[in-house]
Amino acid sequence: MSDFNKKNHWENIYNTKQLNEVSWYQPTPETSLQFIQKLKLSKDASIIDVGGGDSFLVDNLITLGYTNITVLDISENAIERAKKRLGENASKIAWVISDICDFEPSKKYALWHDRAAFHFLNQKQEIEKYAQTLQNSLAENGQLIIGTFSKSGPLKCSGIEITQYNPENLASVFKELNLIECQQIEHQTPFDTTQNFTFCRFSK
Ligand SMILES: C[S@@+](CC[C@H](N)C(=O)[O-])C[C@H]1O[C@@H](n2cnc3c(N)ncnc32)[C@H](O)[C@@H]1O
Repeated sequence: MSDFNKKNHWENIYNTKQLNEVSWYQPTPETSLQFIQKLKLSKDASIIDVGGGDSFLVDNLITLGYTNITVLDISENAIERAKKRLGENASKIAWVISDICDFEPSKKYALWHDRAAFHFLNQKQEIEKYAQTLQNSLAENGQLIIGTFSKSGPLKCSGIEITQYNPENLASVFKELNLIECQQIEHQTPFDTTQNFTFCRFSK
């Protein structure tokens, strides 16, 4: 895997697969929205969706009235697809094309959301860098909502090995945060299969 280029990999995925031809497709990101709505954040709270791809989370956040949203993804193609779908609403979003491991946030976030992006980091130093960036950029009382494949979920996604998590090993990565709640979620893929996710919320 040493010559594996992750940016090229993701650009190619978003260049060749339609929205509903990928396992992570979700017409409504229900679990994320349930976790987020429980927080009762102010509508101008700063929210970042890390590895957001062309997920519908951002559409739903706009509809709910949130005004301070950032979407980060390694793939420019993914961001372009999301922008195109959103039309005029795209200008309401701060878009960042970056590997999360190279991201240097210029602001603090009240909410950091990540569904199915963090689990692609398999190297210890990348995982530590992610946790450090998160810690530095979460505001006081900031919240992390993270969804990863669980210990009974898949071992790979889009051909890449992932790291599986349960609440215990997530808590050991994000050890400077407080674990508030977790749920095991069965995600129904467009291919009539299921993938078991660990979804957790942490608070700073
Ligand atoms: C499985 S998809 C999930 C997309 C979206 N979060 C969702 O739930 O629909 C993983 C996303 O993470 C992005 N990604 C993978 N590795 C990344 C990295 N190191 N930095 C930033 N984004 C990354 C991919 O481009 C892709 O959009």
